[in-house]
Amino acid sequence: MNILVTGGAGYIGSHTVLELAAREHRVVVLDNLTKGHRAAVRGIEFVHGDTGDTGLLKDIFRKHQIEAVVHFAASSLVGESVRQPAGYYYSNLVKGLALLDAMVESGVLRLVFSSTAAVYGEPVEIPIPEEHPTAPTNPYGATKLALEGAMRWYDQAYGLRYASLRYFNAAGADPAGEIGEDHNPETHLIPLVLKSAVGLIPHLEVFGADYPTPDGTCVRDYIHVSDLAAAHVLALDALAGGAASSVYNLGNGNGYSVLEVIKAAEEVVGKPINIKYGPRRQGDPAALVAGSRKIMDELGWRPRFADLKTVIETAWRWHSSHPAGFDK
Ligand code: UFG
Repeated sequence: MNILVTGGAGYIGSHTVLELAAREHRVVVLDNLTKGHRAAVRGIEFVHGDTGDTGLLKDIFRKHQIEAVVHFAASSLVGESVRQPAGYYYSNLVKGLALLDAMVESGVLRLVFSSTAAVYGEPVEIPIPEEHPTAPTNPYGATKLALEGAMRWYDQAYGLRYASLRYFNAAGADPAGEIGEDHNPETHLIPLVLKSAVGLIPHLEVFGADYPTPDGTCVRDYIHVSDLAAAHVLALDALAGGAASSVYNLGNGNGYSVLEVIKAAEEVVGKPINIKYGPRRQGDPAALVAGSRKIMDELGWRPRFADLKTVIETAWRWHSSHPAGFDK
């Protein structure tokens, strides 16, 4: 298929582009490079531009005979979204609607959407199934959920078929070690643990040790970025085969605490990690673990890197060989 990937120079986007190219899909990446890295996309048609630019989108759709879109381009920092909701509504919802409109007007009616576990808010049930109530506790989750809502109505009115993938904690890097996670600023646990291992930061701060979890630290479901990437390809194939629109959780179904992640990382890097205990980070739920049976049953998705140590090993290969990220 001819596929447009918005935000294809970002962390999950670039890993998905690799997977799509490996499956012989013809990919065009659109990225404004505010967060993404040009070096993360190699040997792929690249357009420097914005997802809110409907004229540009329509040109790309026509020129490359695009048949489906995978939409990653978004702002995705939970804490920042609480401080600056306007920017999140603009990037994630307004520009997202511009994309949906350009797709409908151009007759491109297949979409795989990068959604998030943040749509659920504080879980009332673990593991979290797709039918769990959606009550986001921050603008990031709210804007992703709002675009999901629009997609549902665009499906009914205009026949836009979509798969919305609600990721839990994306982690790890392409096992070949050529691309990986490079955020600026970095806020995620595993890259920060590894940055502390290479001495780029003096210590890792553990945000809260008084949660109602077995060791008092937050529990998350870490899913390898290449397993996420593979799910996008399966979702696209299903849409191309006539599947109805759907929403899928993506996680491994195993929760690990912050201290368990640090211990696994210490085993991978072969030395102790300096940690300091700090207060809770605002808006962090105690535990988030995915129920991912639906995508397994309906699309045959299976994680290849379900083991936490393997996930961290792939991240370590990237971070230890690219301590300055793509700017190395
Ligand atoms: N943590 C620390 N110290 C750090 C960084 C993180 O203790 O320096 C803890 C956090 O408190 C949390 C866990 O490590 O308990 C994981 O934190 P991340 O920042 O790596 O990931 P989040 O769980 O906050 O965020 C992820 C996705 C978001 C998504 C969110 C859903 O990255 O896109 O889950 O709540 F919105």
